[in-house]
Amino acid sequence: MPEQTTEQSRTAAMAAAGVDLTGRTAVVTGGGSGIGRACAVRLARAGAAVTVIDLDENVAMSTAQAIGGTARAADLTDPRVLDELDVTAEIVVNNAGFQHIAPIEEFPPDKFAALLRLMIEAPFRLIQRSLPRMYAAGYGRIINISSAHGLRASPFKCGYVAAKHGLEGLSKVAALEGGPKGVTSNCINPGYVRTPLVEKQIAAQAASRGIPESDVINQVMLAESAIKRLVEVDEVAELAAYLCSEQAALITGASLCIDGGWTAH
Ligand SMILES: NC(=O)c1ccc[n+]([C@@H]2O[C@H](COP(=O)([O-])OP(=O)(O)OC[C@H]3O[C@@H](n4cnc5c(N)ncnc54)[C@H](O)[C@@H]3O)[C@@H](O)[C@H]2O)c1
Repeated sequence: MPEQTTEQSRTAAMAAAGVDLTGRTAVVTGGGSGIGRACAVRLARAGAAVTVIDLDENVAMSTAQAIGGTARAADLTDPRVLDELDVTAEIVVNNAGFQHIAPIEEFPPDKFAALLRLMIEAPFRLIQRSLPRMYAAGYGRIINISSAHGLRASPFKCGYVAAKHGLEGLSKVAALEGGPKGVTSNCINPGYVRTPLVEKQIAAQAASRGIPESDVINQVMLAESAIKRLVEVDEVAELAAYLCSEQAALITGASLCIDGGWTAH
């Protein structure tokens, strides 16, 4: 076997050690449920001190208790809450989101505005607050839980699709500004993940399209996927943890799909 270079040994040692976030702070929005909860659990397992922000105080507390973290109840669609959001961390996971399904002509403007506040403005405020801390540490990781709908559109989801496309833009700007100072910013773009949000959508899609719920998963949600199964939350959390590692220091400004090939079309 040829001898390893110092660089190769260092990379091999880092890979063997796994993701070590000891001494790092993290904040996960919407960390009380689904993907956010899985990310909070995974980052805590890697050693990070995690703050969970969620609209629902009970679920925020439940996650925080499970991981020895901190819970904050906050409605991130509320402009006053956004003004006063005083949380900072070196790892920011912008995850909180919801869906509203209606044709554009019936889409409630207040829902459209709330989706933009939650999925673009709240991430912007958290990133803005946290960047000085990241720059001081020479290390920062911004992980934006976008969606296949950050890259593609579907009918009846104008607020969600617009917000996720906007989040993609914010993520790339943060990548360009943060890069020279050790901060990466990326989007994770899952297809349909098995969470309460999707379970609610199955019923809503069935009503909008006038088809039975049993047909929604295979004929609508996974119609474009090469691999016909829902994504599991742990698969998303594992990618988030990897993005926090030193090995991922050069991955920035990217949109990383976990969608069974949906966006390969
Ligand atoms: N589930 C999917 O198939 C899927 C696919 C792609 C992207 N995503 C994205 O992943 C993220 C998480 O989705 P999930 O499926 O885990 O959802 P979920 O409904 O299981 O969890 C969302 C969490 O966000 C919290 N939340 C909602 N509104 C909030 C607000 N105004 N302020 C603070 N917290 C709020 C909820 O209380 C909940 O705990 C969302 O941004 C979603 O768009 C989900």
